[in-house]
Amino acid sequence: MKIESIASFYDMESPEATEFRRLYSNIKKSNNDQLKSVLVTSSTIEEGKSLISSFLAITMAEAKEGKVLLLDADLRRPMINVLFKLPLEKGLSDILEKKCKVGKTIKDTSISGLKIITAGRISESPTLIFNQENIRKVTEELKFYFDFIIIDAPPVIPVSDPLLIASEVDGVLLVIKAGTTKKEVVKRTTNLLINSNIKILGAVINDFDSVLPFYYSSKYYGYKYYHKKAGGKGE
Ligand SMILES: Nc1ncnc2c1ncn2[C@@H]1O[C@H](COP(=O)(O)OP(=O)(O)OP(=O)(O)O)[C@@H](O)[C@H]1O
Ligand SMILES: [Mg+2]
Repeated sequence: MKIESIASFYDMESPEATEFRRLYSNIKKSNNDQLKSVLVTSSTIEEGKSLISSFLAITMAEAKEGKVLLLDADLRRPMINVLFKLPLEKGLSDILEKKCKVGKTIKDTSISGLKIITAGRISESPTLIFNQENIRKVTEELKFYFDFIIIDAPPVIPVSDPLLIASEVDGVLLVIKAGTTKKEVVKRTTNLLINSNIKILGAVINDFDSVLPFYYSSKYYGYKYYHKKAGGKGE
């Protein structure tokens, strides 16, 4: 079976697309209706970050409010290239290692307002190539080119990179796998974010149980959205 790009699974009229539009509008509201950059993360691995950041990016591009970039910042378990059927190289790691200019890494998608930067060549030590100054330079340049940036990041508990990148964006969307991720683990994650002065824009409860694997069904997405009222950092 030929597996298509995830963009071909997006049906604007579906209830799932409506939920994503609601999610987009809610996280925008959490940031006083100004949203330029959001990082998608979770406590641990395989909670649905890559899938949710991809659909959020498609939703934002379809809203036609500006140029959207989806950036794969998970240099350990890159997935955006797989989901959109794009080459892994040249991407973020090549920019951070100064092997490639930002402009050379921006890839087109089948959606006109959506561009992608994939993770790039897998580095043996991603932690070493992520430093605050490097990541600030890259995000500043990207904010100049794009109206909205969505970043697919690694999970917060096992890896330190997401906290570093999160300080360069408006806030974080936290993905929580329903029925699996324990309350105390989520609490630890929110504490780590709050202690680093990172704003939590909202959380998505990704419900795996009620759905089939997304590649095999158009009804792939079952999740509930939960969103905290807009407030100060980490409220
Ligand atoms: N709601 C869902 N229903 C069924 N399968 C799902 C759902 N959400 C995610 N998946 C599947 O779970 C797996 C992990 O999803 P995804 O890659 O989006 O998670 P992740 O948090 O980015 O993982 P990683 O920590 O490896 O980066 C994938 O195979 C994906 O297709
Ligand atoms: Mg992922």
